[in-house]
Amino acid sequence: MTRKLFVTTALPYANAPFHIGHMMEYIQADIWVRALRMKGAEVHFVCADDAHGAPIMIAAEKAGKTPQAFVGEVAAGRKQYLDGFHIGFDNWHSTDGPENHQLAQEIYLGLRRNELISVKTIEQFFDPDKGMFLPDRFIKGECPKCGAKDQYGDNCDVCGAVYAPTELKNPYSALSGATPVMKSSDHFFFKLSDPRCVEFLEGWTTAPGRLQPEVLNKIKEWFTKDDEGNGGLGDWDISRDAPYFGIQIPDAPGKYFYVWLDAPIGYLASLKNYFGKIGQDYDAFFADPAVEQVHFIGKDITYFHTLFWPAMLHFSGRKTPDHVFVHGFITVNNGEKMSKSRGTGISPLKYLELGLHPEWLRYYIAAKLNARVEDIDFNPDDFVARVNSDLVGKYINIASRAAGFLSKRFGGHLSADLGVEGRTLLDTLRAHSAAVESLYEDRDYGKALREIMALADQVNEYVDAHKPWELAKKEGADAQLHDVCSTCIEAFRLLSIYLKPVLPALVANVEAFLNVAPFSFADAARALGGHQIGEYKHLMQRVDVKLLDALFEPPPVPKLVPGGEELAPEVKIDDFSKVDLRVARIVKAEHVEGSDKLLRLTLDVGEGRLRNVFSGIKSAYKPEDLEGKLTVMIANLAPRKMKFGVSEGMVLAASHADEKATPGIFVLEPSAGAQPGMRIR
Ligand code: 2FM
Ligand code: ZN
Repeated sequence: MTRKLFVTTALPYANAPFHIGHMMEYIQADIWVRALRMKGAEVHFVCADDAHGAPIMIAAEKAGKTPQAFVGEVAAGRKQYLDGFHIGFDNWHSTDGPENHQLAQEIYLGLRRNELISVKTIEQFFDPDKGMFLPDRFIKGECPKCGAKDQYGDNCDVCGAVYAPTELKNPYSALSGATPVMKSSDHFFFKLSDPRCVEFLEGWTTAPGRLQPEVLNKIKEWFTKDDEGNGGLGDWDISRDAPYFGIQIPDAPGKYFYVWLDAPIGYLASLKNYFGKIGQDYDAFFADPAVEQVHFIGKDITYFHTLFWPAMLHFSGRKTPDHVFVHGFITVNNGEKMSKSRGTGISPLKYLELGLHPEWLRYYIAAKLNARVEDIDFNPDDFVARVNSDLVGKYINIASRAAGFLSKRFGGHLSADLGVEGRTLLDTLRAHSAAVESLYEDRDYGKALREIMALADQVNEYVDAHKPWELAKKEGADAQLHDVCSTCIEAFRLLSIYLKPVLPALVANVEAFLNVAPFSFADAARALGGHQIGEYKHLMQRVDVKLLDALFEPPPVPKLVPGGEELAPEVKIDDFSKVDLRVARIVKAEHVEGSDKLLRLTLDVGEGRLRNVFSGIKSAYKPEDLEGKLTVMIANLAPRKMKFGVSEGMVLAASHADEKATPGIFVLEPSAGAQPGMRIR
């Protein structure tokens, strides 16, 4: 019976282009899917953009776009990466698609019918300026442990402390700078702590072979309660209040599903969308108990996929995943972790633009991967060695050494006999077919490639022992030359079958060269005796190390200038004296209603009257901290009419040229003793 599978990779957030970590996951899954298809399985392989959530909503707002337009633009950039690296998803959809809205609401209602939804009132930070509850990562303040400024709401970059956003000192909203207030609202919870959920998950997670052992160990920790009864599975907050970019919760106006509720449902939505396109029955597919459901994910999102997700599916009456395959991260030069939240060491697009072969990367990544949750490292020297000595040196070379003689001397016809040694060699190669197939299915790609390269070594030894280039010159050795070269091509064909999941485009060229139909694993048992092959064209070059250097080229070092900003053109002292700078006392400082940047300052410049000056320093100063201080202002600046009133001068402050990258505004303050009205010269 044909195996039927539904396979996905994690859905990437639609707020940025892919990085190398995404490509690694997609390559891992793509190899698996191709291998299973070569075994005759019917595999549906889909993905989608993870479109919802506060960060995307906020990023869209900053970019001046609707969230829909914003994620649409990111989605439009996906194809070049996927095609570029031969990632063969059958469908790419979005969690904002209609299928997902419908499925998410259905699944939620299923959980509610099972009395697994509860409502609790919770208190959270609320940004009064923005009129919204603040996600943890948009609350900043001083670390409660070490006092470091500008730390995020969950942990401190400086001392590493972990805390709740409510513990921050002097918290402020990273969106508006406003001081957040505590506000309560009703939230919906998925009752994961319900004994039915716990019992189900204990069974589901421990089903033999379902999860990797190290994943299971981690899950056991999550299940365990300590002596005081703390820990264990907690209820999951699945709602967010408007404004939110997400899916509305039925019967709860102004409430949306938390992005992580609807994200995995996007797997189903993408499949449903795909089946709609190809006219296949979605419900019938899932009604078939033989269907296997498999998710490839990174280790950072294990909790969502091995606890929340199966429970959501099960308690809404759906099929649960057969496997969740977890992988580690990819680092570059043992360097920075390349999870989705951090930087990208190698840009996949730059890789392609430089003309580096996409299947070099597929091969290299495959060579590094196994079935464990281990991080892998992209090391350029190792990359060059594996591609040049193994892939090209051992495998491609076999064809290039034999094909020429066959076409020149034998019209491209393969000999039917091959001789004892040739047949023995090919039998050895064929005997590994089952092992290679299972290594792929077990995701032990590194081992599969080691086995395949060991076979290639044997073929090369055969070539070296029989020296076709000498046979070609030897009188009366035609038949032997024919056998040796035919054996080489047969061996090359077998190795190509084994490598096809990793090198799909290259092997398509091999199929064309050999003049055969697309390979499946079953083709390993066949023989090509008497068959006429086509003309050999070079299949793959070696890596040029210079290209790799270019891939890693450090960003150009900016010209060294004071504070990272170019000096303004030279001026004469007269130019300077045109500007009348005076010491001023800040008599009063206050917020400006309707402005998230400005403070209104009332300044005494020793003139017997006070001046009104607007200053864009709200993000850096609290009004009460400024009052009474001395500063410096331009006193002869032409008055400027602003939306909020007339500004009669300007206060001097220092800031970095790239204020986003290096935030901070520092108002100038004269040394003690200066008096309001003194001129700066
Ligand atoms: O961590 C992430 O990048 C999420 N966007 C993964 C979602 S996977 C699935 F649940 F959609
Ligand atoms: Zn700290």
